[in-house]
Amino acid sequence: MHYFSFSDSSLHAEKVSLYKIAEQHGTPTFVYSANTIRDHYQSLDQALAPIDHEVAYAVKANSNIAVLSLLAKAGSSFDIVSGGELFRVVKAGGDPAKCTFAGVGKTREEIEYALELGIHAFNVESEAELIFINKVAGEVEKKAPVSIRINPNVDAKTHKYISTGKSENKFGIDFDLISGVFERAAQMEHIELKGLQMHIGSQLTTVQPFADAVTKVAPLAADLKAKYGIEFFSIGGGIGIIYDPALESGSKEWWDAHNEDDRPLTAAEYAETLIPILKPLGLKILLEPGRYIVGNAGVLLTRCLYEKKGTAKTFKIVDAGMNDLIRPALYEGYHEIVPVTQSGPVNTVKTDVVGPVCETGDFFCQDRELPDFREGDLIALMSAGAYGAVMGSTYNSRPLPTEILVDGEETTVIRKRQTYDDLLAQEI
Ligand code: LLP
Repeated sequence: MHYFSFSDSSLHAEKVSLYKIAEQHGTPTFVYSANTIRDHYQSLDQALAPIDHEVAYAVKANSNIAVLSLLAKAGSSFDIVSGGELFRVVKAGGDPAKCTFAGVGKTREEIEYALELGIHAFNVESEAELIFINKVAGEVEKKAPVSIRINPNVDAKTHKYISTGKSENKFGIDFDLISGVFERAAQMEHIELKGLQMHIGSQLTTVQPFADAVTKVAPLAADLKAKYGIEFFSIGGGIGIIYDPALESGSKEWWDAHNEDDRPLTAAEYAETLIPILKPLGLKILLEPGRYIVGNAGVLLTRCLYEKKGTAKTFKIVDAGMNDLIRPALYEGYHEIVPVTQSGPVNTVKTDVVGPVCETGDFFCQDRELPDFREGDLIALMSAGAYGAVMGSTYNSRPLPTEILVDGEETTVIRKRQTYDDLLAQEI
C-alpha cells in the first residue's frame, strides 16, 4: 500500500504532482510520502497489538532526520548501527532510551557515546565485543545494557548479499555457542543482560523463514528468561515488500496457482503466524523493520536525457545513476519504472534504462518492455524509499540529490541538493 497514484494523467505523491516537483526542484530527486510511512508503521504496530511489543525502525533503511522525526512522533523505537545514526535519532527528537545498537564493529567512541546517552541496549555480535563493552563501561563507571545476537543458522531464502542468519554469515553468535556466552556475560561486572536478538535477512517475501527461526530460538529465549531474567526478544527486521506490481495484482486464487514464493507478505500474516509462538514466552518482542516501513514510501524522480538506439539494444539515458540508487547494480534489485505523465496509450519498447556513470553496471533495468518515453520525459523509479538515498555516493563527482517529503498537500525539501562547493567542502 502506498500513496503514489495517477491523477489528471500525472503521477502524484499524495496530493502533489511529481511533474510539478521536478519543475520546481529539478532531478534527480527522491520524493517520500509521509502518510505511507505512518500507515506502514501503524499497520505493523497494530498487527502485533496482542503481545507486548515495540517496533524499532531500522534507521539504516532511510535515515533522513525528517523521516526519523515523523516516526518518533508516531511512537517508534529505533534500531541503530552506528554513532552517526544515534546522533541523527537524537537530532530528530527521538529518545536514546528507545534505541538498540546493533552491528559487528562498534568502536570505543561509539560505545562511550551510546553509554553517555543511555541507550536501551547494545545488540552484541561477538564475545570479543562483549568483553570490550564491559571494559569501556567499567572505565566510564556505567553498566552497559546488553542483548546478544544469535545466528540461528536458518536459510532466509533471499539474495545472498542480504542473508544474515546462516552460520557462514558474519552476524551474531552460533546457536551452539550462545549459552556459554550468556553464562560468561552474566559474570561480567559492567554488563546488564537485557535481551536476545536475531535478524535472519532482508526482503523476505514469505513468513516461513521467520517462523522457522522463531520456533528454533523460542526455547532458548525461555531458558534465558528463567536463568538471567532477560526482558526482551528482538526478532529483527526483514519483512519484504513488492517491487514488481505485476506480483501484487494477483488475487489469492491467482497466487495459489502461481509461485508461492513471490506472494506479498502482509503484517497480518506475519503477526498471525508468529504471535502464537511468541506469546507464551511472556517477553517483550522487538521488531526491527526498515524496508517494510519506508520502501514503498519513496520514488526517485529522474529525467530522460538521451535515447540511443544501437544494433543490439535501445538505451534510455537518464539523469540519475547508480550513485543515487545502487540496488539494481548491487543486488540485481528490481524497481518499477513509470513515466510520470501518461496521456493515452503508448507504444512499448524493450529498453535498458541507464545512468550517466562510467560503469557498465550503471543501469536501472535491462531488456525490459517499457512505455516508449522520450528525451525530456520524466520517469519515476518506484519503491526507492528504503536503501536508496542512504546508500548514495558522489561517485563521478555527482552531487547528492534533493530529498522531498510530501504530507498531504504540503511539500518540504528535507535535504537540499548538494552543490559543487559542498562536494569539495572537506577537501584541502
Ligand atoms: N535489523 C538488522 C540487524 C539488520 O541488519 C537489518 C538490515 C534490519 C534490521 C532491517 O532489515 P529490513 O527490515 O529493512 O529488511 N541494502 C539492502 C538491504 C540491507 C539490509 C541490511 N540489514 C537492500 O537494498 O536490499
